[in-house]
Amino acid sequence: DWDASNIIDDQVKKIREEVGDAQVICGLSGGVDSAVAAALVHKAIGDQLTCVFVDHGLLRKGEAEQVKHDFVKATGIKLIAVDASEDFLTALKGVSEPERKRKIIGEKFIRTFEKAQRQVIEEAGKNGAEVKYLVQGTLYPDVVESGGGDGAANIKSHHNVGGLPKDIKFKLIEPLRTLFKDEVRAIGTKLGLPDDIVWRQPFPGPGLGIRIIGEITRERLDLLREADAIAREELSKAGLDRDIWQCPVVLLADVHSVGVQGDERTYGSPIVLRPVSSEDAMTADWSRVPYDVLATISTRITNECRGINRVVLDVTSKPPATIEWE
Ligand code: XMP
Repeated sequence: DWDASNIIDDQVKKIREEVGDAQVICGLSGGVDSAVAAALVHKAIGDQLTCVFVDHGLLRKGEAEQVKHDFVKATGIKLIAVDASEDFLTALKGVSEPERKRKIIGEKFIRTFEKAQRQVIEEAGKNGAEVKYLVQGTLYPDVVESGGGDGAANIKSHHNVGGLPKDIKFKLIEPLRTLFKDEVRAIGTKLGLPDDIVWRQPFPGPGLGIRIIGEITRERLDLLREADAIAREELSKAGLDRDIWQCPVVLLADVHSVGVQGDERTYGSPIVLRPVSSEDAMTADWSRVPYDVLATISTRITNECRGINRVVLDVTSKPPATIEWE
């Protein structure tokens, strides 16, 4: 039957044979897939692996720290952290249209990643090595989705991956290519990754950028980051983390409604809570979060987040809605 230890041993052996003494890099998103892939490759080749973490300024509260400290502490992996938030936010200035936001974020991410790669190559170059391999946390559903359901190959050749410089031939290492999310979590646990990482709920690459409906500004990001942290904290406290697939917290930045806070009439923005249950994010239902938990979240957000005077609950399934609002 399925056994995490066997898969780990098997992959470690394959990765060692394939890589030899070459240098390897891995982009970390903070999510479970890239974290488990990195930990597995690290077990195989140790310091030949360098991870790259890009902070695009659209992360949630504590996320960068979690990767920079907790992940490094748990694994001992070499990490380059790049703060590219200024760059991203400048590029996103004045943009409200969801697809344009995604496109800008995607492009900026590649540019930032390329820069970090050059740094790794330069440093590795001094030791007479070159970076030949790139680790990706691709899962089986990703493979099926992109139409290559062979499932058997764990290491495939790949050139010019995701806009990498054309004169560098990267080979792709995808040790999770035959696995599903629950299996990846089991392997992460076996490899000693902390529960915080292994049981992290899905979070989109464009981050909070697609959870501000309207233009993205630092002020709006700070506000949403606070509201999101409160919702996550209360859902965790209520023990709902594993029942809920994810809970987007969305700022309707351009909507204003009248409220009364203290003795004053306010004209603030609403926050939407979007807790969903799902198997694979292809379909989803809205989570029946207990009313008292919702009440606590609502009270805290309106008390603690200046400028928010309403909290609303999204009670739509997917379809017809999507999980995210953009
Ligand atoms: P939707 O909103 O399409 O989301 O129902 C399905 C799942 O995908 C995540 N999501 C994204 N992930 N980049 C990502 O890496 C994106 O642009 C993106 N958009 C949605 C979403 O959080 C959910 O888990």
